[in-house]
Amino acid sequence: MQVPFSRPYLRGDEGAAVAETIATGWVSQGPRVREFEAAFAERVGAHDAVATTNCTTALQLALYVSGIGPGDEVIVPSMSFIATANSVWQNGAEPVFADVDPRTYNLDPDSAERAISSRTKAIMPVHQLGLPADMDAFLELGERYGLAIVEDAACAIGASYRGRPIGSLGPLACFSLHPRKVITTGEGGMIAVEDPDVAERLRRLRQHAMDVSDLARHGAKDVVIESYPERGWNQRMTDMQATLGLCQLQALDEILEQRARLAARYTAALEHIPYLEPPFEPDYAQRTWQSYAVRLTPDAPLARNELMRRLLRDGVPTRRGVMAIHEERSYAAAAADLPHTEAATRESLMLPLFAGLTDEEQDHVIDCLAAHVGAVAA
Ligand SMILES: Cc1ncc(COP(=O)(O)O)c(C=O)c1O
Repeated sequence: MQVPFSRPYLRGDEGAAVAETIATGWVSQGPRVREFEAAFAERVGAHDAVATTNCTTALQLALYVSGIGPGDEVIVPSMSFIATANSVWQNGAEPVFADVDPRTYNLDPDSAERAISSRTKAIMPVHQLGLPADMDAFLELGERYGLAIVEDAACAIGASYRGRPIGSLGPLACFSLHPRKVITTGEGGMIAVEDPDVAERLRRLRQHAMDVSDLARHGAKDVVIESYPERGWNQRMTDMQATLGLCQLQALDEILEQRARLAARYTAALEHIPYLEPPFEPDYAQRTWQSYAVRLTPDAPLARNELMRRLLRDGVPTRRGVMAIHEERSYAAAAADLPHTEAATRESLMLPLFAGLTDEEQDHVIDCLAAHVGAVAA
């Protein structure tokens, strides 16, 4: 049996909806993007939401409106996708890596606090794999040291922290709409924004800081001569993507439910498989299960990469656990003492998990794991 690693969840009505949008003639950023932003904001409990081309550009813009620029430092976890650090660099600032909590794999507030220097301007907690970071601690740190808090919520649409949705907690939270995420627009990003003035500035910055949107100009009854009071970028989402996003939002609860059910099945099965630890589940958070990462204990009879190789031969693709950015050549110059990050990235791997994965496919994954690592009698 060949099991897919991941697949977007599409219900079949998306093509007709996108075709309808194309027929309107609005194929770049127009009314559908506005509609998607409003629906997204409502879903995550934010005052407003601003669409962009992807989560990396969302993070770059969110840092920019937080005043981050050359000479500044931003504290980030090294255990994250490299986009987290790249978005800091894209603003001319320097990412400073702090360690993760060894159980949640999320940025550890104490380690982040120790990394604060006179150049620190922001902390970027990541809700890794859709598990909320300890936001109360980070918002308190931000307040105490006068630092901006920008959330990398790439995997976290639908997650909640102490009963409140991710997107409603801090000033700026950035989501990804890549196909490997919980919902998708093909490529796409969204910034949940607390302050209405910041939202309007973000809307300008994503289209070269032009002071009038295409939508507003299209409906104007008089000639509009635009101006550019500051410099900006082109990070516009298209109306086709936004239409897909609106369809995906309708499926979000169904997707989250399926993911949670499959994750619970893995966790139950792992009770009977030695050397593999299921993800830690803190009681303060409801996660999205964007990925299911297991950890191979150091006394396991085979190494992580060998297990991945054997599983692949059985038709079970896996991925290494979340990377450690400071171990990449592109960030090798960054000083870092990150024992929890290094152990967790070395010992973890992600199993297939997506809405639409069948029980039969998942049972095959579980059987293969048990065959290679050894089963314990039930
Ligand atoms: C934690 C994290 N941050 C940022 C990104 C970047 O998202 P995008 O591909 O939408 O730019 C990703 C994507 O994998 C991610 O996992």
